[in-house]
Amino acid sequence: MKRTLVIVGASYAGVQLAASARELGFDGRIVLLGDEPDAPYQRPPLSKGFLTGSVAEARLPLRSQVFFDEEKIEWMPSTRAIRIDRERREIGLHDGSRIAYDHVALTTGARVRKLDCPGAALDAVHYLRDLRDARRLAQTACTARRAVVIGGGYIGLEAAASLRQQGVDVTVVETEPRLLARVASPWISDFMLRAHVERGVAFECGRKVVALHDAYGIVSVELDNGTRLLCDLVVVGIGVIPNTELAADCGLHVQGGITVDACARTSDPRIVAAGDCASFVPHWALPDARACRIESVQNANDMAKTAAASILGRSEPYRAVPWFWSDQYDLKLQMAGVNTGFNDYAVRGSVEERKCSLFYFRGKTLIAVDSINRPQDHMLARKLLASGAHVLADEVRDPAFDLKSLASGDMHAARGAV
Ligand code: APR
Repeated sequence: MKRTLVIVGASYAGVQLAASARELGFDGRIVLLGDEPDAPYQRPPLSKGFLTGSVAEARLPLRSQVFFDEEKIEWMPSTRAIRIDRERREIGLHDGSRIAYDHVALTTGARVRKLDCPGAALDAVHYLRDLRDARRLAQTACTARRAVVIGGGYIGLEAAASLRQQGVDVTVVETEPRLLARVASPWISDFMLRAHVERGVAFECGRKVVALHDAYGIVSVELDNGTRLLCDLVVVGIGVIPNTELAADCGLHVQGGITVDACARTSDPRIVAAGDCASFVPHWALPDARACRIESVQNANDMAKTAAASILGRSEPYRAVPWFWSDQYDLKLQMAGVNTGFNDYAVRGSVEERKCSLFYFRGKTLIAVDSINRPQDHMLARKLLASGAHVLADEVRDPAFDLKSLASGDMHAARGAV
């Protein structure tokens, strides 16, 4: 009898996992359950091009229906898995039906964290996670004049940039003293703050929102110092919560995310997990580091490949270099590696021209590189980090130093060129 793989969650990780399972030779039934009505789509443009109107909805799908048909992947839209019965090996769906499985992949992603203050449910309040959110926001943004963005992470800043580019007055409210505190170095926080201020965005950092009010269509956002920001649109980007309930309810180990090993296996050998919902100890972590989740397209795709391999009985530990990106105005920010615990950094390129890269070191080890409008540095950084090549901060600062040769493993050419 052919085996059945049920994948719960039809976004990047789920779709990649289905594709990889087929590629690796899984010839059984693949069922891909998605609780959204739309065909799996790209999420990053939702806060960028889709919001400014430069990316049409027709360009969003991740894969065509032809792909699902040809690969015999049974994509089921608007279908919610509500229970996993591990003894009977069945998944219960929202409509009362059940699917028997041999393997389950949990690619359930994450949902937005909701604002929790009086007025949080006003119509003017928008979130930005799925296509329905983005459609509604894009429609409102066309006529909006003043917006308050709550949260100065990547979602908040990308939304701020997109709205500003459409002529909307924008104020960003962030509880931390600096922007992007969770994910970026103080240097990048400061650079991005200046980039937004130069384009007319106002900031209220270190402030909490205590209430939202609506007086005859005029919304005001009340801060903890008594300031009231008037607006007609509020965008909230205050982080995400992993969707782990399905895993926890059936007794899998969950701690801040669905716990998986280096091969994306949960505590049940028949169940793997990948993407935003999965928590693991990354290969680059310090010895005392705890498990973490990585929220990125790269992580979803690469972890899904590892998980697919595990389903096929292969043990291929996840060792990819993490990378991320964000587009705001004419700034292309690309990040490779994770800079946690860096104690030195070197800048390459020109900050004034907004074409530069920051190389982060922990001791003498290069651990991460953030590039601004230097895509070539980003690609080299990924190679350098993957190979563990040794480079000095002074070499990085020297424009004559040949990073390209070093990244391709030619140390003599790199160092001889100086
Ligand atoms: N008011 C203002 N700011 C807040 C509040 C609040 N009540 N609560 C949290 N914040 C701030 C945090 O300090 C943080 O700077 O909101 C920011 C949220 O940033 P992230 O946690 O990075 O989340 P977000 O920007 O929403 O992105 C969510 O989507 O595109 C992906 O990479 C992105 O994975 C991330 C996810």
